[in-house]
Amino acid sequence: MRTTVLIVAAGSGSRLQAGIPKAMVTLGDGHTMLEHCLDSVVAARDAGAIELNAIAVVVPGDPDYAASLGEVCHAFAARTAVTVQTVPGGAERADSVRAGLAAVRKLAGPAGPAGSAGSAGGPFGRHALLVHDAARPFVPPAVFSAVVTALESGTAAVVPAVEVVDTIKTVAGAAPEVVTGTLQRTQLRAVQTPQGFDLTSLEAAHRLAEEGAGGAAALTDDAMAMEAAGHRVGVVAGDPLGFKITTQLDLMMANALLASGTS
Ligand code: CTP
Ligand code: MG
Repeated sequence: MRTTVLIVAAGSGSRLQAGIPKAMVTLGDGHTMLEHCLDSVVAARDAGAIELNAIAVVVPGDPDYAASLGEVCHAFAARTAVTVQTVPGGAERADSVRAGLAAVRKLAGPAGPAGSAGSAGGPFGRHALLVHDAARPFVPPAVFSAVVTALESGTAAVVPAVEVVDTIKTVAGAAPEVVTGTLQRTQLRAVQTPQGFDLTSLEAAHRLAEEGAGGAAALTDDAMAMEAAGHRVGVVAGDPLGFKITTQLDLMMANALLASGTS
């Protein structure tokens, strides 16, 4: 299934506190987070996990940061012969995804006539979109493969997920908070990216979310938009290496993995 990958790399990385957008942060091997992420996509292609059409990368609006990440994309495209298009992002992750969707549509070609979203293949058939965080540099090909395989079986939305290790409680009130409940851990999953979608369905779901009560800003991932639009979201096995670099501790783990040759 022809697949376009949308990498969101426009966040500021406020919790990492690196002073630059997270995607620009260099890991211990001298390569930026975005380079690692792009390399993981091409590794998935080379492993036969995805039939890669093109990659859209959403970069920060700041012209200096955009230029820096644009250079990374340009060098990657020259090295791999993959089409890479950059597009400026927005204030919230969902805004960045929506900006990216417009670029993806151009890369993917026109949508089919109404009702064609469920048909297989053909010029107006389904087009797979993988929405992926630049801050997840080490996702193995098997995860890409599992996501795309689920899309090929007709699912309109699929997320890779891992089991939760902590007990998760709900809380309320100002500090000191009080516990209002405990969620059943066996029913919880921590969801990663790449999340896979039928492109036309995700476009419609994001349009709906934008018009909804909380607006698109209330979305912390894209599967939420599909859930709200009434789609069934499938779950496939994620991987511990699909972790997101959010804090300095995550960065230390990423560098330890690189130093040990695990990634
Ligand atoms: N992202 C984005 N545009 C935004 C916010 C986030 O493209 N306005 C991207 C980030 O670049 C990252 C992914 O979404 O690859 C996951 O978001 P997160 O881990 O929250 O990154 P940041 O928002 O950059 O970090 P923080 O929340 O700590 O500021
Ligand atoms: Mg964020």
